[in-house]
Order: sequence, then structure tokens, then C-alpha cells
Amino acid sequence: MTMKHIFKKGEEGNSTTLLLLHGTGGDENDLLPLGDMIDPGASVLSVRGNVDENGMNRFFRRLAEGVFDEEDLIYRTKELRDFVDQAAKDYGFDRSQVVAVGYSNGANIAGSLLYHYGKVLQGSVLLHPMVPRRGIDVPDLKGVPVFIGAGVNDPICPAQETKDLEKDLTGAGANVEVFWANLGHQLTREEVENAAAWYKKQVKGE
Ligand code: MLT
Repeated sequence: MTMKHIFKKGEEGNSTTLLLLHGTGGDENDLLPLGDMIDPGASVLSVRGNVDENGMNRFFRRLAEGVFDEEDLIYRTKELRDFVDQAAKDYGFDRSQVVAVGYSNGANIAGSLLYHYGKVLQGSVLLHPMVPRRGIDVPDLKGVPVFIGAGVNDPICPAQETKDLEKDLTGAGANVEVFWANLGHQLTREEVENAAAWYKKQVKGE
């Protein structure tokens, strides 16, 4: 199934594509400024989640706040992976240089890509993510850079979720950096600035 999206071609010589994934109730416009802060010269593929929850866009269904519909999560994770594969062909970007930038529900589907498909992204910026699935072995992520932005008092993604996620990803070999803010679920400028600095170093090697 296709997904509503925005594709913006980056500058000549910049072969990264940022895969932007919004939070619950957002759309493909939401994270464009964030992509600009992380790498203004990168190509952008900003996608709208296909699930409609009472008029709010999401990337997969949930049974309750923080309780995911696993069957739908698995289906939607494949849907997103297939969509990115197809978009790389259609728009001619390098599939091996896709870096996910997701917030909240968007971070959770990005995390789910890692949990189900392993090295399917060059790197990931997960802003206020949860553990997408429990009780499965995370595939090999050796050397894959992952930035996690978290809030000490995040009521939607409790601190323990972040710690468990970091443990799972590190256990699979990913190179994880966690940025903690003394706040809740909201995105902060400081967090995005830290993600941008991490990206320059860990993804671009500058
Ligand atoms: C989710 O459902 O993905 C998380 O609870 C975050 C959110 O509220 O979107």
C-alpha cells in the first residue's frame, strides 16, 4: 500500500535521506523543520502514518495508551519498509543511506524497523521512543548508530522504557547514545541540537 509523503531532493553531493516519522495526530509536514535542523542539505522522505485513530494519523494501531496492537505493528512495519524500498527506486536515492528521525509514535515504528529488520537504516534518531516489542531477539545491529532523546519525567515513555530500549539495542551491537532532558514527552531544542551534533559525528563522520 502506498503512503502519503513528501519527498525533497537534497543538495548535490549529500547522499543521505532523512526518513521523517511524525507523532500521533501529526502528518508529513510536522518534522520538516526538525530535518532542516539536523541536516539541511539531506534529501527528505517525510511519511504520513496510514492508521487513522479518531482522526489522528498513526503508524500502527494501539489497543490502549502505550499498549500496541502487535499484529498491526508487524504489518505496518513491513508496509513502511516496503514503501521506503520502493521510494528509493522511484526517487533514485541511496537506500543504504537512509537515516530515520522519528518522534513518539514515529520513533516507535522506526524502533520497530530495527527490532524486525535489523540493519535496515543507516542510523536512527529516536525521539521519545518506547520498546516496540517485548520478548523477541533483536537482529544484528553491530555498529549501527542510534540516538535516543528521552525525558526523565515522560509520562508516555517512562524512563525505564528508555533504559530497556537502550539495553536491547546495545545488546544487538548498536552504538547507542541517550540524551536525557529534565522534562516530559515534549521535544526540546536542546534535544534536537544534540541529535544534530550526534548525526554529524556518528552518521557523517565529521
Ligand atoms: C505510541 O502509541 O506509539 C506511543 O504511546 C506514543 C504515542 O502516544 O504516540
